[in-house]
Amino acid sequence: MKIKSIRQIKNLKDQIVLLRVDFNVPIKDRKVRENYKIAMSLPTIEYLLKKGARVVLMSHLGAPKGKVNPDLSLLPVSKVLQKLLSSQAYKKKIKFSSGVVGAKVAKEVNDLKSGDLILLENLRFEIGEEKNSRIFAKKLASLGDLYVNDAFAVSHRNQASVSEIKNFLPSYAGLLLEDEVTSLAKVIKPKQPLVAVMGGAKIDTKAPLLEKMHKKAECILVGGALANNFLKALGYEVGISLIDKSSLVFAKKFIKNGKLDKKIILPMDVVVLNAGKVFVRPISDLKERDAIVDIGPKTVEAFAATIKTAATIIWNGPMGCFEEKESSFGTLAIGRLIAARSKGTAWGVVGGGETVEAIKLTKMSAYVDWISTAGGAMLAYLGGEKMPGLTKIVSK
Ligand code: 3PG
Repeated sequence: MKIKSIRQIKNLKDQIVLLRVDFNVPIKDRKVRENYKIAMSLPTIEYLLKKGARVVLMSHLGAPKGKVNPDLSLLPVSKVLQKLLSSQAYKKKIKFSSGVVGAKVAKEVNDLKSGDLILLENLRFEIGEEKNSRIFAKKLASLGDLYVNDAFAVSHRNQASVSEIKNFLPSYAGLLLEDEVTSLAKVIKPKQPLVAVMGGAKIDTKAPLLEKMHKKAECILVGGALANNFLKALGYEVGISLIDKSSLVFAKKFIKNGKLDKKIILPMDVVVLNAGKVFVRPISDLKERDAIVDIGPKTVEAFAATIKTAATIIWNGPMGCFEEKESSFGTLAIGRLIAARSKGTAWGVVGGGETVEAIKLTKMSAYVDWISTAGGAMLAYLGGEKMPGLTKIVSK
């Protein structure tokens, strides 16, 4: 794989670098709730500042659909970034622009000195961003000398600031984007045996990954509501457990003559809620009013035995409703197991919003080889889909 990295740029002094980051973080009451993506962007920002560049940060937040929405302003993000950078001895004040393109923004950018940093307002306040508009991309590009994509998490989108903009400026990959693609490449070309652990609710975005893993992995351990669909498709009673139509149709593809494909391993027991009470039941013994909320202890043991054989592990999607104490055991146990096997015995990769939350709860994230900042983009990349954000900067 060839990556056009920012490390290849000879002279960054005084250059205006348009740095696309993914600061699409959870925000409530105009406060940042979780800063993983912001913290992971720091190495690239610091690298550029140290080299004397004038740095213009660009990001989206949420889905304002081309309209200004004060609840989705990036201003709270700039405050978090200021704190994080100050703790790394960055003494200057970060500037914040209330615009994205136009004369006022151009002046603010041109006034930057070497080692200065400005964050532009939410790119998606502009209608041209999500439409991958050539005119909008050209306007954005006119602000700077170079373009750097460090927003792997949004690189599956065909949008102006990750796609079309590269037609107007010399374009490079940031350090986080480099780490993401090189870490995930180890799942695409894995050291065998590769074991995939998949859970969560709907199949919509996960189908390409599951199909790819079906080709590459030794086996796929399936939990969460995803497993409910396979169980139902096999004819098991699943009570009032979460099922969705498209996942059920998808699951049926892996069943021939009533038999499940050998690579797909389902829970043998589950934790259920029934009239407010918690029970552990074998999957052959579910009642009409049961709702599956977690994988059971026998399943954890069986999954553990398989995970222990892996040289590469990829985990996406929780095994149950891990936010509730009574149904958190399965997800946390799997998280701990993956962390314990990573950085040594196996190459362990974890990704997806909820999965990252879960691995953090284990307090063992530091042991995992790579925790992706991406959700949908990781699934798309591993599933072999087109990644408009990577063209021109990453090639096979
Ligand atoms: C993400 O959080 O997955 C990325 O920022 C992409 O966001 P989007 O799904 O709104 O395009």
